Amino acid sequence: MQTIRGFRDILPEHIPLWQKVEKEAIFLFESFGFKEIRIPVLEKTELFARSIGEVTDIVEKEMYTFADRKGAKLTLRPEATASIVRSYIQHKMYATDPVRKFFMIGPMFRRERPQKGRYRQFYQIDAEVFGIESAFIDSQLIFLLNELFKRLGLTGLSAHINSLGCPDCRPSFQKALLNFIESKKDKLCENCIRRMDKNPLRILDCKVTGCKEALADAPATLDHLCNVCDDHFNTVKTTLEQQKVDFIVDKSLVRGLDYYTRTAWEIQTTSLGAQSAVAGGGRYDGLVKELGGPQTPAIGFAIGFDRLVEVMEQVDKSPGTNPLNLFIISLGDKAMKKGYHWSCELNQLGVYTEMDYRGKSMKALMKRANKLGAQYVLIAGENELAEHAVILRNMNTKEQVSLAVETLVPELIKIVKK
Ligand code: HAM
Repeated sequence: MQTIRGFRDILPEHIPLWQKVEKEAIFLFESFGFKEIRIPVLEKTELFARSIGEVTDIVEKEMYTFADRKGAKLTLRPEATASIVRSYIQHKMYATDPVRKFFMIGPMFRRERPQKGRYRQFYQIDAEVFGIESAFIDSQLIFLLNELFKRLGLTGLSAHINSLGCPDCRPSFQKALLNFIESKKDKLCENCIRRMDKNPLRILDCKVTGCKEALADAPATLDHLCNVCDDHFNTVKTTLEQQKVDFIVDKSLVRGLDYYTRTAWEIQTTSLGAQSAVAGGGRYDGLVKELGGPQTPAIGFAIGFDRLVEVMEQVDKSPGTNPLNLFIISLGDKAMKKGYHWSCELNQLGVYTEMDYRGKSMKALMKRANKLGAQYVLIAGENELAEHAVILRNMNTKEQVSLAVETLVPELIKIVKK
C-alpha cells in the first residue's frame, strides 16, 4: 500500500526542523498576543465557496468535496481563514471583544498538480486578526513574518506587497480592466474568457503563458485606489520603511482568493523553482459581514509550512535531535527487571534512556548503543548485581566508573545530565 498522489509521510528524521519552526512561530505569535485556535478539517462546502469565491481555481478545481452518507456537501479545508471567520461569527466573539488574534497550525487540502513545494495535503501556519482597521496592523503582520524568517536563519526572501482597494475603488478598476481584457480577448485562454463576466480579477492570476504575456500591461488596482485606500497603503509602506523591513511594491500581485481588500502580500523565494510563495496574506474587511457577522475589519496570512521547511533544509542541514543520554545493557532476567524499572524512572525524570528487551549478547548490545549514539552505557549483569554495583561507561571518553545500586538513579542523573 502506498500513500495517495500528493500526500506524503513526514518521517521522523525531518521532524526536528518542523518542530523548530513550530516552536519559534508559537513563541513569536504569543509575544504578539495571538491565541491558538483549533478548527475542524471538514466544513460545509458552502463556507469555502462563499468566502474564497465560486470563480477561483481553489473552488472550481482544487477542493476535495464529497457528499456524506446523508448527502451533506462537505469539503476538506483548503485554507484556514474561512473557518476562523466562521468560528468568530458562530461563537459571537465580536460581542465580548471584537479585537481578536488567532493562530493555527495544521493540514490543508488542495487537489493541485503535485511537484516540489506543492502537495495535495500541505500544512499552513496561519494567523488572523479581527477588529482592527489601522494600517499599523498590516505592517505589524509583515514585520512579524519578517522577524520569524530572520530567527529561522532565512535570507533571500522578499516581501511583495500590493493594495487591492476596497468596494469604493473596485468599480473604476474593474471597468478599466474589462476594457483592457476586451482588447486582448483573442489572446486569452478559454478559462479567462469564461471568467471575464464572472470574475475579471481572477484573469490576472492565470498561469497560462500566453495569457500572462497578453496581460503584462493590464491596469493595476494600485492606479485606481480611492484616497482612503491610498492613505492606508502609504502608512503600511512608511511604517515598514521605518522598521527596516524590505519590501517590493508589486502591482501585479492579486492573490488567488476573492476575499481580499486593500493590503495583500506574499513572501517569495527563488530557491523552490516554480513554487515561489512561502507565505501569503492580506486584509479582508468584508468577509465577516459577508458570512453573516457584523461589519468587522480583518487581516491575516498563512505560511506554507512544507515550503518553509524545504527552504530551511537548504541552509539548516543538521537540526538538533534529542540525543540518547543512556543505554542500559541488562544481561539476564534479574538484570532485565531491574533495568526496566531504572529506565522508566529515568525517563520519568527527563533522562532519555533506552534498553533492549530481546536478550541479546553484550557485544550485540554495545553495537546497538553505538548505533543509537548513546552518551553513556550502563552495564548490569548477574555479577554486578550480586556485588550491588553496576558499571557506567562514558561512550565518548571510554572511561568507566562503578555505581552503587542503592543510589543509582540520583547518581546517574548527576553524571548524565551534567
Ligand atoms: P494561499 O496563498 O492560498 O493563502 O496559501 C498560503 C501559502 O500556503 C502559500 O503561500 C504557500 O506557501 C502555501 N501553499 C498553498 N498551496 C500549497 C500546496 N498545494 N502545497 C504546498 N504549499 C501550499 C491562503 O491560504 C490564505 N488563507 C492566507 C490568508 C490568511 N489570508 C488571510 N489570512
